[in-house]
Amino acid sequence: MCGKMGATKGKRGHVLAVPFPAQGHVTPLLKFSRLIASHGVKLTFVNTHFIHNKLAAATNSHAPQLGVVLASISDGLPDDDDRSDAFKLWESLNSTMAGHLTELIEKINASNCDEKISCIIADVTLEWILELARDFGAQSFGFTPASAASLAMVLQIPNLIHQGNLDLNGTLKGIESVRLTDEIPAWRKDEFAWSFPIDLKTQKIMLECCLCGEKSARFRSTWLLCNTFYELESSACDLSPKLLPIGPLLDSQCRANCSSFYVEDTSCLRWLDEKAVASVIYVSFGSLAVLSHHQLQELALGLELSGRPFLWVVRSNLTNDGSRVEYPEGFLGRVCSGGLGKIVEWAPQERVLSHPSVGCFLSHCGWNSTLEGLAAALPFLCWPYFADQYHNQSYVCDKWKIGLRIEQDENGIRGRDEIKKKIEIVVGDDDIKANALRLKEMATMSVAQEGSSFLNFQRFIDHLIME
Ligand code: UDX
Repeated sequence: MCGKMGATKGKRGHVLAVPFPAQGHVTPLLKFSRLIASHGVKLTFVNTHFIHNKLAAATNSHAPQLGVVLASISDGLPDDDDRSDAFKLWESLNSTMAGHLTELIEKINASNCDEKISCIIADVTLEWILELARDFGAQSFGFTPASAASLAMVLQIPNLIHQGNLDLNGTLKGIESVRLTDEIPAWRKDEFAWSFPIDLKTQKIMLECCLCGEKSARFRSTWLLCNTFYELESSACDLSPKLLPIGPLLDSQCRANCSSFYVEDTSCLRWLDEKAVASVIYVSFGSLAVLSHHQLQELALGLELSGRPFLWVVRSNLTNDGSRVEYPEGFLGRVCSGGLGKIVEWAPQERVLSHPSVGCFLSHCGWNSTLEGLAAALPFLCWPYFADQYHNQSYVCDKWKIGLRIEQDENGIRGRDEIKKKIEIVVGDDDIKANALRLKEMATMSVAQEGSSFLNFQRFIDHLIME
């Protein structure tokens, strides 16, 4: 029998990696896990059953991924329940996940005394999992899929509440913005990672998630592994002493992409092959952002008005009322039948971004998309929806100067003329292109031999192996 305490020491150990169950969280942690496993460290990656099945269906495989063993546990909800209800999902994870994970760890530890769990890497929001590591004598590391600046801001939440500048619903009080340092763009009211002013119940849950992240970062993690690189966010990295920037985590570096929840439509790569160099506008809103029917129609018409080729990812759940996506009358015939535009439900995004025909990225500015576009030296058109996306937009437009905002009108709509105008400006702006190239080079250097992220990763692996 193997005892409960005393995880494998002096060996390569056995790492358990646990993401938050959402695309933008699973993807970067799975990439990081592949990197770890490629160094000969045993790694088990634990999704919820729901996500595990989604991944398996989309990637057509239950097989281990490059040395990573896939496992799954219940998220506590019945199979047919609605996981888009953030409140219900969060409550259920909070109350059931630690128990299910304990059972899994006990099973793993009992099955092979030489491969007991010695380290847990979990999404920083999953505080209860990082706490669990202690019970098993394992090391614990928080993983954040967002920027170092977002983490630094989250660490400020207790201060903001204490000073009376933030209420317990997550609304800013008495001040209009928060600035951490001169080098980091300020957060304006309603542009925080937890902000969701149209639905205060959801905003409260998001604040709760962030507070769990704050506690993990402060008390539960040896290091905070962050998908960024020091040169990109040096000021923010310096604000969090435990932070270990190990990004950008890219497919090219982590080898092969098997982390999509949706089937990737690779026909768009052949379509891109037919287009002129740097001519195509790639449009994608990640996995969660939604648009109103009216907004979707304006975007379609703006793309048409631009007269440029475009590749647009339209998820079946892209509309905010759950209705079927409807394009303006005649749009598909006028624009897509003639080959000017192509619409897919899900793209192999990193391959698209690095395709020579793509010249601009119209993005919701999720942090993964931001890093992926930056690593491909693409100019951005920014269209944030929620969470950290507004601050990522500020980085892109105000700090790095590699993109432009698509502004909303007085009714909150990004109109077709604004969309056409910003496309024209961004594709003709040589300063933006030069800045984008410079940042791509910085990103490449950070993960190359002796680069900052390369060395941090090496430090992490050495630590795992030595402990
Ligand atoms: C969210 C948040 O927006 C993000 O800011 C946070 O840090 C993590 O969770 P999401 O909104 O889905 O994620 O956006 P993003 O972070 O950009 O992640 C989406 C991922 O899906 C990217 O890795 C992207 O390459 C991938 N993707 C998207 C595809 O592979 N194909 C697509 O068609 C669209």
